[in-house]
Amino acid sequence: MEKLKMQTTNIVDENIKKIGELFPNCLTERLNAEGKPEVAIDFDQLRQELSKDIVEGQEERYQFTWPDKRNAIRLANAPTTDTLRPCREESVDFDNTQNLYIEGDNLQVLKLLRENYLGKVKMIYIDPPYNTGNDFVYNDNFDQDKQEYVHNSGQYDEEGNQLVTNTESNGRFHTDWLNMIYPRLKVAKDLLSDDGVIFISIDDNEVENLRKVCDEIFGSINFASPFIWSLPRGINAGLIARAHEYILCYTKNIFAVGRFNRLSDDVEYSIERCNKKIDSRHPESTIDFPSGIRYEGPDKTLEGEIEGSETIRIIGREVFKNGSLVEPVTLSAGWTMKNMILDWLAGREVYDTKGQKIVEFFFKDNGKLYSKKELNTYSIKSILKDIADTQKARIEIEELFGNQDIFSYPKTVDLPKLFSKLSTNKDSVILDFFSGSATTAHAVMQLNAEDGGNRKFIMVQLPEKTDGNSEARKAGYKNICEIGKERIRRAGKKIKEEHPEAKNLDTGFRVLKLDSSNMQDVYYTPADFNDRDLFEENIKPDRTDEDLLFQTMIELGIELSAKTIKTEIAGKTVWNVSDGYLLACFDEEVNETTITEIAKQHPYYFVMRDSSLANDNVADNFEQIFEHYSKGTIRRIL
Ligand SMILES: C[S@@+](CC[C@H](N)C(=O)[O-])C[C@H]1O[C@@H](n2cnc3c(N)ncnc32)[C@H](O)[C@@H]1O
Repeated sequence: MEKLKMQTTNIVDENIKKIGELFPNCLTERLNAEGKPEVAIDFDQLRQELSKDIVEGQEERYQFTWPDKRNAIRLANAPTTDTLRPCREESVDFDNTQNLYIEGDNLQVLKLLRENYLGKVKMIYIDPPYNTGNDFVYNDNFDQDKQEYVHNSGQYDEEGNQLVTNTESNGRFHTDWLNMIYPRLKVAKDLLSDDGVIFISIDDNEVENLRKVCDEIFGSINFASPFIWSLPRGINAGLIARAHEYILCYTKNIFAVGRFNRLSDDVEYSIERCNKKIDSRHPESTIDFPSGIRYEGPDKTLEGEIEGSETIRIIGREVFKNGSLVEPVTLSAGWTMKNMILDWLAGREVYDTKGQKIVEFFFKDNGKLYSKKELNTYSIKSILKDIADTQKARIEIEELFGNQDIFSYPKTVDLPKLFSKLSTNKDSVILDFFSGSATTAHAVMQLNAEDGGNRKFIMVQLPEKTDGNSEARKAGYKNICEIGKERIRRAGKKIKEEHPEAKNLDTGFRVLKLDSSNMQDVYYTPADFNDRDLFEENIKPDRTDEDLLFQTMIELGIELSAKTIKTEIAGKTVWNVSDGYLLACFDEEVNETTITEIAKQHPYYFVMRDSSLANDNVADNFEQIFEHYSKGTIRRIL
């Protein structure tokens, strides 16, 4: 029996726990006054979390650090003024699809997604650069005025060194990689739902560092396990042929995840008796059974002892009628699964130590209790033996493009498909922000076709230029995004042909491209001046209505896959998002008729351009119209 604590809760410990849940990276260990190790808060780290600038501070404590770590935290927390611009021409089924393909540096993109997808992503799979000595690593330390150029080129800054090759001779080999991965994972965590899971491919170059970083960001308690992916062909270099890679699996909250999905629908059951011979391992104890428990056998009443080497004493009587126990009864025996029986009687889900679900306890003809257990295990093994290696992935590329060399080092579809099967529901959102040739999108469509699911994908990929001499360039693909998008088009077509029954399969995708803000770099607030003409210039001349609409959606936290319909009201274009949740009009000189009609539709949000208000009187007038027809509508000006 548990001892009484005889003291009130230690509030300091409770507070440390609460801060640790919010910022796992701020937990450290130190020696207390008695020289015993205890969990403590790393205040420097916490100060960094709460500061927009880099905070200095040195103190001896248990920590994992590297040069610029504080800057990496600051980068993750710093806001962005960037935006995502829709591109209809490159999209497939733009108006109906729920899938997104986003081009741009993933750190900025993740920050923008944080506005709309906070806590909404069920599974993330990423396959980041492994830092093999030949990888490009994105250099985030660029200043604001270089950003525009970077967005456009997708690869270089003014000095031509935005994407830099991280060679081992670089004195900051691991540092640069850590500075790249840390802020991205930190923002990605916010996107995960409470029961969300992230799978990260990696090899021996950075697995150690990645684990430490993830322990900090997700909390070591939320580490599920590394998967060791056993590669059929080893790489024969060095002393030992390397025949494995890793996939680290972290959860947002391991308790909220509970269990992974079973991989097959064919369930087998085992039936086991729940009491053994009474001895020191199975001492006699009683359990109270309520009426209603299922019974297999003819009607009967039992009293006294049930004979046999595994004796059960009936306290009262066991009355079975029409397939169930009809009176409560207490049974005394050497129980094998007592805690599980009690949990099940209390209405909880019960699993054995192998992760197998006990579906029920029931009585048999002999009056003894039995368990019925699903034999398929709920715990996947940490060694992945049946997933094919790069060779199969290359064949998958060849089947679509007629050439294996269109993309170097893709993963096989089987890998993200396995993780999706394990950890998602049929309508989950799945994200890959190092998407390369879009294998994850392919896997999501494939799985949906196979199990009738409606999972949605979000791919993020930098428009990294293809090498001038590469097969990809020869085939006309100027950057990796062009490969990724074409793969989704071709894979979608193939899957639809192979699964004609999957009539509603969504193989479309909405293309969005990261760019600098739609607003002029210097934006004046109305309080700054009275000259109306200047307002007209607050939006960059090359930006379209649809650009403004998507920036509005980001700001209002509306999912970027939301349905957007262009309508006309009294001669003005009005965008209707999510069946009237948002109505937006970016036309000039919006008139009262249009405003009245919009207000009559009672949108949750209404947005218009600043410059479309001819003067303050018009603004007041519009306010009155809304007050009259739709007081609750939240009105915003761009
Ligand atoms: C190893 S590949 C992923 C391959 C992918 N799993 C597949 O099967 O095709 C890593 C990808 O991440 C992209 N990448 C690297 N840094 C990035 C960044 N900062 N933002 C977005 N993508 C990036 C690279 O261009 C590369 O295509």
